[in-house]
Amino acid sequence: MKKIGVLTSGGDSQGMNSAIRSIVRTGIASGFEMVGIRRGYDGLMEKDFTILESKDVGDILYRGGTFLRSARSEEFRTEEGQTKAVNNLKEAGIEYLVVIGGDGSYRGAAELNKQGIKTYGLPGTIDNDIPLTDYTIGFDTTLNVVTEAIGNLRDTMSSHERVSVIEVMGRDCGDIALHAGIASGVDAILVPEIPADIQKISAKLKDGFERGKTHSIVMVAEGVGKAEDIAHQINEYSGLDTRATVLGHIQRGGTPSAFDRVFTSRMGHKVIELVEKDIYGVALGIEKNEITYHSFEEIFASEDELNQNLYKVFEDLV
Ligand code: F6P
Repeated sequence: MKKIGVLTSGGDSQGMNSAIRSIVRTGIASGFEMVGIRRGYDGLMEKDFTILESKDVGDILYRGGTFLRSARSEEFRTEEGQTKAVNNLKEAGIEYLVVIGGDGSYRGAAELNKQGIKTYGLPGTIDNDIPLTDYTIGFDTTLNVVTEAIGNLRDTMSSHERVSVIEVMGRDCGDIALHAGIASGVDAILVPEIPADIQKISAKLKDGFERGKTHSIVMVAEGVGKAEDIAHQINEYSGLDTRATVLGHIQRGGTPSAFDRVFTSRMGHKVIELVEKDIYGVALGIEKNEITYHSFEEIFASEDELNQNLYKVFEDLV
């Protein structure tokens, strides 16, 4: 029986469990033996393998995190680490490997593919920063988590007539800030892709308070800078009372949204279809509501760009 390995790597995201469940159950239904690899590429080097039966992925669909656990492996970045990983996979008879993770995890999967393991990538990151997919796993859930947190902050900021500066994740990508910002009706969104003029933003916020607003919310993607520093600058320019909140890892938890559960179930199904067709060396995504795939090379050659039209939508709403 042919074996398919599956691992989760890098920062976890809500919906990884749902993806694993779909891969495992569809794989078993198609006659494959499924092997879970714990703790990402670290577990691959330590042969931390476990055979997965259908019942082993029961009760995980609605849980955040990843039951296989995840890691950012330093050793796997080295040539020796990769050789060890290939040897371990060959020794265990694992011919196919599905890697659920972000850009760094994809690079590892592409390397293994070059060395004779048939690999697949699923976009597991809340940041939505992978090219050639409209959404990444967990992004939608994260937007809901952030939107709820902003609601709580709005209550207390209104009571005290303050400006809330909220830092969300997104090292190089402003998608969480932009989407959650629009969903929350915030007053300013700072993203790494578009330079911001804090002095101008401060003047606008001050004007809002003078017109009778009781609170203001400024969203900052972590790639722009620290919420604390930006809150301080806004206070210096406007004299308004500001508070900084870093949402941090709260954004990576919580039960996956219905969208994340359905989309990951579809991707898990598709990856097994690709295995059966012997198509490999590809990463899956969702484009215009279709599950698509592209070679790793295509993904690496593409840029993930901020949706400028969406930014324009925001600008016209404030
Ligand atoms: O999952 C991606 C990400 O959320 C980034 O936005 C963030 O910078 C990073 O992970 C932090 O993750 P960790 O603390 O696990 O290294």
